[in-house]
Amino acid sequence: MSEYTQIFRGTAFSSKSPKEVLVLKDYLFCINADGMIEKAVAPEHVDYQSLLNRYQEKENFHQLADGQYFLPGFIDLHVHAPQWAQSGTALDIPLYDWLNTYTFPIESKFSDLDFAKEVYEDLVNTLLANGTTTSLYFATVHKEASLLLAEICAEKGQRGLVGKVVMDDPEQTPEFYRDANTQTALADTEEFIIAVKELAKSTKQGVYPVVTPRFIPSCTDGALKGLGELAAKYDTHIQSHCSESDWAHSYVQERFNKNDAFALNDFGLLGDKAVMAHCNFLNDEDAQLFAETGTAIGHCPISNAYFANSVLPVAHLHEKGVDIGLGTDVSGGFSPSLYDNARQTVMSSRMLEDGVDPNLSADKRGLPNSRVTINEAFYLATSGGGESLSLPIGRLQENYTWDVQIIDTKIPSAKLPIFDANEDLSDIFQKIMYLVRPENIREVWVQGNKVHNRIN
Ligand code: GUN
Ligand code: FE
Repeated sequence: MSEYTQIFRGTAFSSKSPKEVLVLKDYLFCINADGMIEKAVAPEHVDYQSLLNRYQEKENFHQLADGQYFLPGFIDLHVHAPQWAQSGTALDIPLYDWLNTYTFPIESKFSDLDFAKEVYEDLVNTLLANGTTTSLYFATVHKEASLLLAEICAEKGQRGLVGKVVMDDPEQTPEFYRDANTQTALADTEEFIIAVKELAKSTKQGVYPVVTPRFIPSCTDGALKGLGELAAKYDTHIQSHCSESDWAHSYVQERFNKNDAFALNDFGLLGDKAVMAHCNFLNDEDAQLFAETGTAIGHCPISNAYFANSVLPVAHLHEKGVDIGLGTDVSGGFSPSLYDNARQTVMSSRMLEDGVDPNLSADKRGLPNSRVTINEAFYLATSGGGESLSLPIGRLQENYTWDVQIIDTKIPSAKLPIFDANEDLSDIFQKIMYLVRPENIREVWVQGNKVHNRIN
């Protein structure tokens, strides 16, 4: 029998499929030196008792207490790290005005590395404390501050995928906040990619550079083409915003006479390692192109309520075979919690299905078959995110990373309403998804390392 670095014993929840959650009751999770789950052993398994005998008294054996459960660490597919500084404010105007009035000014301040450090450290701590073990970040146009964000993720043990934002079109971006020109935008991106790949070598959990055209409206054709080439040359992840709002969607139609999906594809910006935020106005051809290229959607339901002018038809897009994960879109979405976004996913889908205008008759009010369940929202926050990024994360099964949150349902300040000692575990799972607060998230682990330990 191999030597394991750590053994964890307890009940875990992990997605089996978009609609089904597996309950792994009282399992042993055997973690190897690389921080991977080498064996997930059920109590009925022949090795269970001998593993227990061998490890139970050792320091590297972790037994969950009564009322505690393992969940996979959450995967946030869309975070604007600098916008953490304005989270919870500035949600009173449409996207185009919001960008120009509030967001570009605050992002421009990240040329100051001291300010960047203060905000980025606080954000990474906050995301970890909310159970987010992997984040796909937009930083700012500044190469140094973007690298600083990757360094902070590396140091704190979060799996960070970080992009230096490109916005080089002088027609669509303010003078105080844009790349100097197309050449510098591409050169800075290339230097950033090389630096993050170098940094990654010293981390266990990995940090990754991401090619990041902000969205088509902020980029010239030359930048979009050059970024597609850089992504291919270095085999990086790619992220952008796609067909988010009426305005952003129609801007691209006017410029290219096609939808974002096909325009991005022409520039080499779709693919297995590409994640596009929002995508609310994808038509069926766009969705098919996403499915064929392996491009994923980062669904940000709280942000969508403010800026997207619509609800993403998650159920329909899943049926079309598109990969979907969940994003906070801090600060278009005010909350850093994927729990909050999972809850909003379900609620928004119900409003889409039923419709919202009481003056319409019931049969005309909504879009049938649009509802998703809390199980599906959990899938988006975990397994769906892992598949979107093409990484072995988001599931508590063999050959996946040991990225977990330990949830305590009995914390006095945030006790979950569980009154029956034999309550059905699938009901406990639903209570966790709907009611957990950061107080309940006692420990967070990434790639076999403890990265958050809540003390109060
Ligand atoms: N489109 C371009 N930039 C942004 C941004 O920062 N947030 C959102 N929600 N949409 C965008
Ligand atoms: Fe965004």
